[in-house]
Amino acid sequence: MGKIWDPRVDIPNLNGKVAVVTGGNSGIGLQTIKHLTAHGAKVYFTARSEAKAKHARDYMFSQNPDASEERLIWLPLDLSSIKSVMQAVEELKAKENKIDFMINNAGLGQKSFQTTDAGWEMVMAKAAADESSDVRVVTVTGGDNIFPPDYKFEYTSPSFLSGNIPYKPWKFRHIQKPLFNVDLMRYSLSKVASLLFAKELQRRFDKQGLNIISVSLHPGGARGIRTDSALDVLAGFMKLIMRRIMISEDEGSFTSLFAATAKEIRNKPDLYRGKFLVPFGKVAPPHPVTENERQIQGLWDNTTKEVNRYLAKNGYAPLLDW
Ligand SMILES: NC(=O)c1ccc[n+]([C@@H]2O[C@H](COP(=O)([O-])OP(=O)(O)OC[C@H]3O[C@@H](n4cnc5c(N)ncnc54)[C@H](OP(=O)(O)O)[C@@H]3O)[C@@H](O)[C@H]2O)c1
Repeated sequence: MGKIWDPRVDIPNLNGKVAVVTGGNSGIGLQTIKHLTAHGAKVYFTARSEAKAKHARDYMFSQNPDASEERLIWLPLDLSSIKSVMQAVEELKAKENKIDFMINNAGLGQKSFQTTDAGWEMVMAKAAADESSDVRVVTVTGGDNIFPPDYKFEYTSPSFLSGNIPYKPWKFRHIQKPLFNVDLMRYSLSKVASLLFAKELQRRFDKQGLNIISVSLHPGGARGIRTDSALDVLAGFMKLIMRRIMISEDEGSFTSLFAATAKEIRNKPDLYRGKFLVPFGKVAPPHPVTENERQIQGLWDNTTKEVNRYLAKNGYAPLLDW
């Protein structure tokens, strides 16, 4: 990419495409749905309550008055509830026979990277079966810079799912921690897990001969437009500095939009399959743990086991085998 990729002009015509954006009611997700709908996609955006969904719709139509009402659909979803995830999957399956872009944007929650599987199995595989398809799964991550390259992750143990932090690196304890007013370790562990997930997902798509591209990305440090949501995690003096340095929420959506829609990706899929992107759409080296097969398999197996346990407990069938 020579110039900065700009969704306003670089997103192709998305008429006929169906997108799902989790956490679409605020921040980067809201900007993502704004651009997708402006280019003709039918967008399912998730929000945990009707009030939040209404707020998002009102904002969207204030920015995009010509957008089609029918093409912006609220999908109720709380990723911390397996029932809610399954209801969302059922609703999607009932309303659509394909999904072209799945954007895993919602923040927080280890489950967000695994429970969406049940969704793609049915609807994304169908879309991918079409020869002209261009199906993509986009996973928004970030936070891996807190971990030194030799950090000993423990995704091989199920205890990571209950928030177990292996240890806090020296640099984090003495330099980074005072810069934040929240403890970012758990958040960052779940974000690194999403990195591993996106890479492994690609491998599994490839193994099954599915024409689907999975990428992960860091959206960039993005401040809020209406609120200081992202800045709020920073300690007071850092907030002042970062407010000047951070990109806007709109710009924070650019890399997700590039990953979901840019023609470059379909034209040169081997450059992007299973890769990690940084603003605005550049391929970058992710944390070295993404090369650790034991950690990747540990994460996948432990998460699958745990999700299946929750599914069984709530009377649902297990995830389909790959
Ligand atoms: N902004 C940054 O600088 C930055 C940097 C690196 C990575 N990221 C990542 O980028 C993504 C978007 O961040 P953002 O700054 O736009 O954050 P945000 O404004 O706080 O939006 C996060 C979205 O995720 C939803 N969400 C959180 N937990 C959920 C759950 N259990 N079930 C369903 N939805 C849930 C939120 O819904 P509610 O409104 O109901 O809470 C909200 O819609 C996140 O994955 C974040 O980790 C952001």
